[in-house]
Amino acid sequence: MSSQDSARYDIVLFGATGFVGTLTAEYLAAHAPENLRWAIAGRSEQKLQRVREGLTTIDPALKDLPLISADVDDPAALRELASSTRVLATTVGPYITYGQELVAACADSGTDYLDLTGEPEFVDLMYVRHDARARETGARLVHACGFDSVPHDLGAYYTVQQLPEGVPLRVDGFVRAQAMFSGGTFATVLTGFSRGRQTLAAQQDRRRQEPRPVGRTAYAPVSAPRYAKEVDAWALPLPTIDPQVVQRSARALERYGPDFRYRHYAAVKSLPVALGSVAAMGTLFAAAQLPPARRWLGERVKPGEGPDEQRRAKSWFSVRFVGDGGGRRVYTEVSGGDPGYGETAKILAESALSLAFDDLPDTAGQVTPAVAMGDALIGRLRAAGIRFRVAAAR
Ligand SMILES: NC(=O)c1ccc[n+]([C@@H]2O[C@H](COP(=O)([O-])OP(=O)(O)OC[C@H]3O[C@@H](n4cnc5c(N)ncnc54)[C@H](OP(=O)(O)O)[C@@H]3O)[C@@H](O)[C@H]2O)c1
Repeated sequence: MSSQDSARYDIVLFGATGFVGTLTAEYLAAHAPENLRWAIAGRSEQKLQRVREGLTTIDPALKDLPLISADVDDPAALRELASSTRVLATTVGPYITYGQELVAACADSGTDYLDLTGEPEFVDLMYVRHDARARETGARLVHACGFDSVPHDLGAYYTVQQLPEGVPLRVDGFVRAQAMFSGGTFATVLTGFSRGRQTLAAQQDRRRQEPRPVGRTAYAPVSAPRYAKEVDAWALPLPTIDPQVVQRSARALERYGPDFRYRHYAAVKSLPVALGSVAAMGTLFAAAQLPPARRWLGERVKPGEGPDEQRRAKSWFSVRFVGDGGGRRVYTEVSGGDPGYGETAKILAESALSLAFDDLPDTAGQVTPAVAMGDALIGRLRAAGIRFRVAAAR
């Protein structure tokens, strides 16, 4: 029995007062099993009380839901938070700014940890600093448990399962989405864009430390924009964390075969929209390098704000995968509603429930969603309305 088996809670949600945090708390309130022992945490007791009041409209029994006050600047409070629960899910970001101590606390206390980061620098740093300790204590550190990167990671995993075993495999993912940013996401993107040098340094530190699989290769190259007739759209390379996560799953799991390649794209139907997207991203990246411009941009969408319910109801995503290997080609798709918030809250909550209750492979240390939860999480997400399907095969 690990020390965490005797913890007071099954799940603690840290950051429950934020935009995605509140949606995640609402999801748990509506869908968690009755016997779930859970609590919400944040830095302001008053705000937590307001969130709890909101939750009682979903389930009146939640009037007694425990509240835990903790600030990220108080390492002792974070350690207590980590020791109080079997699974800690955090939406307190940007993670490079606010998240480091909590990962340390979970790795030390053997607590399973989940977050929503899409920040490669943070994930690489956490690997370098805490993977070994988490392996000792048995903690599973699972980053990127939202739209970044679960539909892509599990979608590639699902696609691989439709292809023959033991042969070289090629999978391309094409993302389409209609959605809006929250203040927290916008702040995180701006922070990430301004930290190119640090991101590269963290990546190099990780490379020096992380063992590679023996006798197998798995890689995720950035490729040039192209017209992809297989999805009838312009394919623009997407420099998100997703291809790195897919590559890590492929390195960890034999099922991806002896030689695996994943390429990740945004799929855009019209050429002017494709060119406009590249120009807009380039401008945002350039502006993020200048502190005054970054501050000005950061004030356009404030932390805690995000798209309203009406807007979220109209949002959607679809990731199409084209997989080739052993003479077979398969087309698959993962799709759902509002990617950034509704579905992200659902994915984070279902991941927390999966770590707490599912019969999962025996893993520890920094692990991807596919490696930690694979089939069990696909099953949960399907039951919760996210579609995984084989569109065609030959
Ligand atoms: N993976 C994905 O696909 C995905 C999707 C959406 C969002 N995200 C990421 O999720 C994160 C949260 O986004 P959001 O829109 O929910 O942001 P948000 O509304 O700004 O929420 C941030 C949360 O962090 C808390 N916080 C800030 N400073 C703190 C401190 N010193 N101590 C304790 N708590 C503190 C805030 O508490 P207060 O309420 O007290 O201010 C709030 O609860 C961002 O990093 C975003 O990029 C990822």
